[in-house]
Amino acid sequence: MILIVGNVLKDVYLNLDTKNEPFETDKNGTKWLDFSFNASEHHFFNRHSSFGGAAVSLEVLQKLGLSATITDSDFSFDEGGPTKSTPADSYRYILISDDGVSYLTPNKLQITEFIAPNSSVDYIYIDRSANLPKSATDKLLNYLENHPSTKLILYIKDLKIEHVNTLKNHASLIFSEVESIDFEKTVYLTENSLTFKNITEPITVDRIDKLTHLSFYSIAAATILGSFILGKTIEKSLKITRANLENSYLDSTLTLTELQDISSRENDDLELIAASLVYSGKGILAADESGGSIKKKFAELNIPDTFENRHSYRDIFLSTPDIENYFSGIILFDETARDHTDTGETYVDYLTSRRIIPGIKVDQGLEKFKGSDETYTKGLDNLPRRLREYYEMGLRFAKWRAAFNITLSENGEIITPSDNAIEENCRILAEYARACQSAGLVPIVEPEVVYQGNYNIDTCAKITAKVLDTLFKELENFGINLRACILKCNMILAGKDYLPSSTPEEVGQKTAEILKDHVPEDLAGIVFLSGGQTPEQATDNLAAVLKNGPFPWPITFSFARAIQDPALFSWSGDNNNIEKARQAFLDRLIANKTVLED
Ligand code: G3H
Repeated sequence: MILIVGNVLKDVYLNLDTKNEPFETDKNGTKWLDFSFNASEHHFFNRHSSFGGAAVSLEVLQKLGLSATITDSDFSFDEGGPTKSTPADSYRYILISDDGVSYLTPNKLQITEFIAPNSSVDYIYIDRSANLPKSATDKLLNYLENHPSTKLILYIKDLKIEHVNTLKNHASLIFSEVESIDFEKTVYLTENSLTFKNITEPITVDRIDKLTHLSFYSIAAATILGSFILGKTIEKSLKITRANLENSYLDSTLTLTELQDISSRENDDLELIAASLVYSGKGILAADESGGSIKKKFAELNIPDTFENRHSYRDIFLSTPDIENYFSGIILFDETARDHTDTGETYVDYLTSRRIIPGIKVDQGLEKFKGSDETYTKGLDNLPRRLREYYEMGLRFAKWRAAFNITLSENGEIITPSDNAIEENCRILAEYARACQSAGLVPIVEPEVVYQGNYNIDTCAKITAKVLDTLFKELENFGINLRACILKCNMILAGKDYLPSSTPEEVGQKTAEILKDHVPEDLAGIVFLSGGQTPEQATDNLAAVLKNGPFPWPITFSFARAIQDPALFSWSGDNNNIEKARQAFLDRLIANKTVLED
């Protein structure tokens, strides 16, 4: 039994919309936000709260299968989640904005009392959140004297507190954020590395996002401690800990089985998967329209939006013979990824057995920025958890779409996309890509400049260039391995309402120019979306782009509408038309493959 000594705090994470927040700047240039707090008055993209401090350590140890308890007796953590009524003055606010992350912590530190346990415990862990008065350390020392088999594990945050420092001599293991500590068995934790003093080289940790920042140290220490108790070697313990830090999400840390699985998966070759997906001569089918998009498509053809109809529609494409000759990968929607073929196999297993890599759309649609018609893409909440499940199901790559609509003023000036929308969406795309690579899936990042409106081809080129520049800057910031990442991109062409329409020659030349100038050579590959072009237009334009090669990366197609729409119309909800629909689908496949081979 491990007794955790520490405080339970409530962390409230706010992803602030800084453009809409009334920050005040003082004479020193520091920005202040009035936080005398009525949440409804503030603008943020996400709000999330979870228990921090000792609660995180308790969660970690319990998820590792160890029995642990906490000095804070009215707090408990079970399968249903943590419970405690926390007074608002013990909340920590974690503000995430364009300027970085800042923290508001309560003025008054909670005092941690040491209440000696009734029965003997194996370990006493002084958690990072503990704020021990001298009286508590005295009681603790007294307990240790009377229970010589109990081991003390100490997290020292502040070396200046003398009576806490004296506990050092009784500790079996110490966690510290400062290197100057003179104790053999010390694990140093920095914001992105873990080192066991004199024993290991620092092991670097790429955090998925900044949201776990405050809990980072607590998760790190508790996972290392738990792994040691479970008898893992130092190296293995640090690897397990890295897996927990890179994959935990706020109040959801990982179980021992998940951690062992992830840390042994480290050698999976994401670069190889990415290279196989853009393998020349084949494309990636986007069969991943969301529930909402299918409903709309079906409504236009008066097809009832039932599960049976959606199943039949997807099955037209997925069960067509010989599709492995045309596709290296297929992107599925969650419903299809869980669905089965008529012979009872999951579609994921079925595609894998046909040597087609199954992928998954993981974004959850578009949401408007407050007070604006521009959008950002939702779905980061719980993303690591969903990705883990998808990995277990056999999916090996993912897709996330951000949409940028071009609107112009009467005299032709660009109104949208705004810099803010571009930056925010690209940051989100990079955060998603990071989560994918940590979970063993290749990310397809799709920043789509929407083919709608009355803009000319140069405007499309200018906006696409800006979006790509911002995206690759963010991907770099997030440490994305570009050789294990694919760009899904719009072609460069004038908006649908603009006349005359762009010719394939113009599209080919402009698209090639922008990609060559704004996409790093390291990238695994580029695939095109069709974006509402007619099936023939998309194929002709793809051919025109390829004529402007060579390119430093493989290029292929990843159409949805331009490949599926003719089949949808042929089928029209009547299963007697399935063969006709499959033929219409194959016609598009042959046309696009011919272009790739020319
Ligand atoms: O996210 C959009 C799809 O992956 C591509 O669809 O070819 O119909 O533009 P589309």
